[in-house]
Amino acid sequence: MKLNIFTEEKQEKLGDLFGIFFEDLNHAADGGIYGELIQNRSFEFCEIDNKEYHPLMAWEKIEKGGKVSLEIEEKAPFAKENPHYLRLKVIEKGEETGVCNIGFLPGIYLEAGKKYDFTCYGKNLQPEITEKARIKISLRNKTDEILDEVEAELNNEWSRFEKEFFVSETTTEGRLAITLLEGEIGLDFISLFPKDTYKQRKNGLRKDLVQLLEELHPRFMRFPGGCLVHDGTLNPWDRNSQYRWKNTIGPVEKRPARRNNWAYNQTLGLGYYEYFELCEDIGAKPLPVIPGGYDPHHDRAAEGAQLEAYVQDALDLIEFANGDTDTKWGALRASLGHPEPFHMEYIGVGNEEIGEPFFERYPLFHQAIKEKYPEIKVIGTSGPFAAGKEYDRGWQSAVENHTDLVDEHYYQSPEWFIANHHRYDSFDVNGPKVFLGEYASQGNTWYNALAEASYMIGLQNKAKTVGLACYAPLFCNVNYVNWKPDMIWFDNYRVYGTPNYYVQKLFMNHQGDTLLRSELQPEEETSVNKSEDCICGAVVLATNDAKAEYSDIEILNEDTGEHYTYDSQLVGQGEEAVLEQLNCRNYTIRMKAKELEGFKGFKIIFGRKDEKNQMFWCLGGWANADSLIGEDIDGRNSCLIQNARNIEAGRLYELEIRVRGRKIETYVDGKSELSIESKPLVIEPLYTSISEDEKTGDVLIKLVNLSDKAQEIMICFPEQKIKGWSGMVYKMEETDLNAENSFEQPLRVSPVEEMVEIADRDFTWKLEKTSLQVLRLKKLV
Ligand code: AHR
Repeated sequence: MKLNIFTEEKQEKLGDLFGIFFEDLNHAADGGIYGELIQNRSFEFCEIDNKEYHPLMAWEKIEKGGKVSLEIEEKAPFAKENPHYLRLKVIEKGEETGVCNIGFLPGIYLEAGKKYDFTCYGKNLQPEITEKARIKISLRNKTDEILDEVEAELNNEWSRFEKEFFVSETTTEGRLAITLLEGEIGLDFISLFPKDTYKQRKNGLRKDLVQLLEELHPRFMRFPGGCLVHDGTLNPWDRNSQYRWKNTIGPVEKRPARRNNWAYNQTLGLGYYEYFELCEDIGAKPLPVIPGGYDPHHDRAAEGAQLEAYVQDALDLIEFANGDTDTKWGALRASLGHPEPFHMEYIGVGNEEIGEPFFERYPLFHQAIKEKYPEIKVIGTSGPFAAGKEYDRGWQSAVENHTDLVDEHYYQSPEWFIANHHRYDSFDVNGPKVFLGEYASQGNTWYNALAEASYMIGLQNKAKTVGLACYAPLFCNVNYVNWKPDMIWFDNYRVYGTPNYYVQKLFMNHQGDTLLRSELQPEEETSVNKSEDCICGAVVLATNDAKAEYSDIEILNEDTGEHYTYDSQLVGQGEEAVLEQLNCRNYTIRMKAKELEGFKGFKIIFGRKDEKNQMFWCLGGWANADSLIGEDIDGRNSCLIQNARNIEAGRLYELEIRVRGRKIETYVDGKSELSIESKPLVIEPLYTSISEDEKTGDVLIKLVNLSDKAQEIMICFPEQKIKGWSGMVYKMEETDLNAENSFEQPLRVSPVEEMVEIADRDFTWKLEKTSLQVLRLKKLV
């Protein structure tokens, strides 16, 4: 195989192609990168966050020989934004009475030799008995031994108390205790941070986690979500509001706690100022996503003045990031410690919004932003799936509004990523560019990471139509998993990057600035098609989460003309009715369907080889909102196409599926619903992309070998008059496709670096089977 590289033939600029996406899910912020060690520091947790939450969550009584009462009050808080505080009363004097916080699971991590910053607000609530209340604050290990402690006095007004603790013993399940022998006190905003946060900042971030982000060298960071952004009420003062950036700046005590869309609480201690600062620290351009005045989860749409406030929020955010210090929001930024602008260039309006109310509102944002800040690139959205009516609607809006980029999201099987390598080849180079804002194959094995690497080669080569791309989600606390797979896993003191992380890292570290023309000449046609040219297998009736009746069922073998009919079938939740084993290329399945109980509608499986390898059409899935064609390969699911659809219980639907080779069409009541071709799984001989680092002149050669054979490549530079090359090669050569990293083996699948010295212009290079290599080469002239 020969790879010709034409270093004089510069092509597309790669711009900010590869970046990251941070969302506070899986406790990525609170209980994650945000350094706060106390969970529920201001007693604001409540059932709005999660049905099981209450204001004393993560707090426990200390009653050694005595008795205390813990009550939550909101009569005279010191910060109205966080109105609840703890009223702690000693009812019966004993050896030790008080309260302790257990931190985030499995406890507070305290490290020997390290300092910790404690702060709290307290108040004596029995002034008639004592002028000052005396308390003891201590850090303890799992067996309740005191590691450090201090005494404090509380007077009759809310006052702040601070202490620097030092511990000489390590514990992974530490506690913070506040005790008193007698009396009654108010406590609020009880906080503990490691002194050694990232860049030693107050209200800072967990150093080891940021380190992994820093080492990625991402070109941009999308934040703060995700569904986190748009799921909530429209009034920013509601406890349950959408994510509104103005709630997240200024003194942390005055940032109102909010429900996090992922069923927990967000303190907003990691807010917009900290996000901008983080972007600056890790060299990533900030890419905030704001809600577009519409909550698609609950169909809430802002009108009138409320909608104007949303648009104003967008404009004010840009002023906060970039405005001069004599502007209102620029001055606020300066007052927080950052007079220089944050150089924001992008803004996302909406995340995965579907539905006309969003598309009616989007132009208001777009026009207002472009009028005041024409240089800002505005990003629209094409919903949560890779194809379908909602996806097309997003793109249509983007074209009509001259949106700069469209945010696409999909979570698919590795096989889908391989089969769809050329997805962006046919996109319009004159239209809005693609921002692949969320993608991941279904796992954290080397196979997943390698499939993603091959896809990223395609993204880089199609920089004409793809502007930005980032993997999702970024972080996961192993004790609070909302979503899998994730790029980086951590607990309260350890962290590791997945193979997917190391692939992303190589692509970001060696992205380059300009694509160089190259041409791959395989010796023979070595692409391997691993798919059959049809979708044959069993036809099975099931449901999503309902009881349904299927009647007038028929299957037509369009190859032979055979016709099968079946009796009516009653299918309950979790049940299946197997109809036929089909071995033909072309067939049609028809039936009538009625949902009798439940609410998630029908599931018709076809092409089933086994339960892990099949196609299906789901109607009324998720929140009874989808009609989609899905594909399972080895148990990993992809959604090939989706439209919005709701199934009405008791109504009779006429359903039809036409399978022609790998093409699938579905019909509801005689009307076309979905149409898609399942792309065959073709493994190309090699995936390559070549770019140049403008500053250093380095040539960056990315090579992905998905095949199970080692490859020998002749790498040639036909135009160059040079003596050779020197530089580095970064190799990921794991042969076990199921290999994963872990706390115990954090680097099992990670790049190995070697120096390269080549005494010729052209050279032969070897690539192991199922491997990735990045060569960074300097010319020797
Ligand atoms: O990345 C996880 C979630 O996936 C995001 O919040 C949402 O945008 C998508 O559905």
